[in-house]
Amino acid sequence: MKIILSGYGRMGKEVENIALERHHTIAAIIDQPSDFVRQIDKIRQADVAIDFSLPSAAADNILRFFDVNIPIVVGTTGWQDRFQEIEQRCITEHKSLFWSSNMSLGVNLFFQLNRQLADLLHSYEHYTPSIEETHHIHKKDAPSGTALMLANDILPLYPKLSDWKLADGDLHADRLMIQSIRKGEVVGEHKVCYHSEIDEIEIRHTAFNRKGFALGAVVAAEWLHGKTGIFNMNDLLK
Ligand SMILES: NC(=O)c1ccc[n+]([C@@H]2O[C@H](COP(=O)([O-])OP(=O)(O)OC[C@H]3O[C@@H](n4cnc5c(N)ncnc54)[C@H](O)[C@@H]3O)[C@@H](O)[C@H]2O)c1
Repeated sequence: MKIILSGYGRMGKEVENIALERHHTIAAIIDQPSDFVRQIDKIRQADVAIDFSLPSAAADNILRFFDVNIPIVVGTTGWQDRFQEIEQRCITEHKSLFWSSNMSLGVNLFFQLNRQLADLLHSYEHYTPSIEETHHIHKKDAPSGTALMLANDILPLYPKLSDWKLADGDLHADRLMIQSIRKGEVVGEHKVCYHSEIDEIEIRHTAFNRKGFALGAVVAAEWLHGKTGIFNMNDLLK
């Protein structure tokens, strides 16, 4: 496939390595909005775009690729406030979008474990769930998109928790607390913890490098080929 790299930072470069390893070619590299206009001819000839850009850029990038009918895989996080608009355009205009706030297979297995654990523990009221995520200091959004997905799988089972909340040092008994830690060059760590006065149960996923995210994005691009609609990792893993 001819792949457009939309965003050529840490993740864009990892995606390039994996794409070449899997015998794809790089049709164009977009690293700022003006690149799109400058490379429009190459873009029109590509098969798919993979976006790892900025939270503030991703939604506009998706719409630009919709306009030229290029399927797009989005790994960028922090653009969900524009999800409804994008979803509506994708469906009504028969475009092609795959998105996941975490492209790694291991994390998607961790999501399943999180759902199973919540299912097991929610009826034991003395356990209080909480989430902690640690990422590198360059990460722009907090909490991470992955922490939000973990939270959204726990919340429906806990009617007394009205929503999630970023930890601020105070106790909020009616919220699922998420602590976001920014430290050094940590690739990504997520913990889900069930605390009681007598013990604690915890599950944890630690990413050692960015390769798993990049591989997931390239596999998603291969999978998306020829499909229209809006998809995520659950569709791919089915
Ligand atoms: N879904 C996942 O599995 C996953 C994994 C890792 C990172 N991420 C997310 O991916 C995003 C990128 O992460 P990163 O570590 O590569 O960031 P980065 O800061 O290293 O790279 C972002 C790149 O986007 C470029 N950019 C700026 N404006 C742009 C535009 N309008 N169009 C295209 N590119 C533009 C920047 O110049 C930069 O090179 C973040 O939102 C991060 O949270 C997601």
